[in-house]
Amino acid sequence: MPSQEKVWTVIDLIKWGTGYLTDKGFDEARLTVELLLSETLGLKRFDLYVKHDQPLKRGELDKFKVLLKRRLSHEPVQYIIGKTNFYSIDLKVDRRALIPRPETEILAETIIDHCRTYLSQREHVRILDVGTGSGCLAIAVAKFVKNSSLTAIDRSDVALELAKENAASTGTSEKIEFVRSDFLALEENGFKESFDILISNPPYVPEKELATLSEDVREFEPVDALSDGSDGLTFFRKISEMAPVLLRDGGWVFVETGFDQAQKVSALFADQGGTELLVKKDLSNIERVVRSRFFSKGSA
Ligand SMILES: C[S@@+](CC[C@H](N)C(=O)[O-])C[C@H]1O[C@@H](n2cnc3c(N)ncnc32)[C@H](O)[C@@H]1O
Repeated sequence: MPSQEKVWTVIDLIKWGTGYLTDKGFDEARLTVELLLSETLGLKRFDLYVKHDQPLKRGELDKFKVLLKRRLSHEPVQYIIGKTNFYSIDLKVDRRALIPRPETEILAETIIDHCRTYLSQREHVRILDVGTGSGCLAIAVAKFVKNSSLTAIDRSDVALELAKENAASTGTSEKIEFVRSDFLALEENGFKESFDILISNPPYVPEKELATLSEDVREFEPVDALSDGSDGLTFFRKISEMAPVLLRDGGWVFVETGFDQAQKVSALFADQGGTELLVKKDLSNIERVVRSRFFSKGSA
């Protein structure tokens, strides 16, 4: 830890902290130190370099050390600084919900492109977001699809609180209705209206793989947001059963899938009559998004 005797400037701490975290085996050490220092000093990351020779006051150094210690205990940096960026939207994050992932931006982009391309003629698009967590997907769609309204459900009360705070801070509250609901227990008459699109990034980590996740994820993120406590496919099965019921005739489903799940999920959807299947890969070449269309039985 940086000693109190020495005067530490911003750049001294960036250099020292980067080396220290790297030696301790942490990825993205420089970025982490920059984010922690920005939080400590109330500066934007870019401004750290403008003020690189600014010495830290005693209280500032103490605050930085507290934040650094939290990271050393493997708390994710987004929880420490209480925010993240998703699809160019600043969101609050804390232990109430999963941290939005960069790969989920591919799902957001696919949904937003789809709405703009296929549904531009429609008056209004009604979307159901299953397992909204921080609200990231619902908020991105509400912001970028003009004629949309969303129902965002989650089983977790505290995640819904966070999602509502994020909707308020991003000016999307009026377009999103947040509902506490257990999707796995949803009855066929669960919602009065039918939706044009169902979107979901559900808990898909198979229970037996939980132990292989990094300590950052395992120890800090809500387990109910990560895993279905089974083979990872529970939510996709339920979505495939409920899609023909919850969607208007010819409605669409967009889901995020885990490693090696996209073909299984496509098969589940096809078994329930899903058509126009499409699989999209993420930047690591992993099949990450599955799209399907559902017609009510007998009308296709
Ligand atoms: C993988 S997280 C996704 C959160 C957010 N949509 C995202 O993409 O970052 C899955 C979410 O599903 C919620 N969830 C878990 N079981 C559920 C259930 N039975 N019904 C509704 N939501 C559930 C969790 O609380 C969590 O917020």
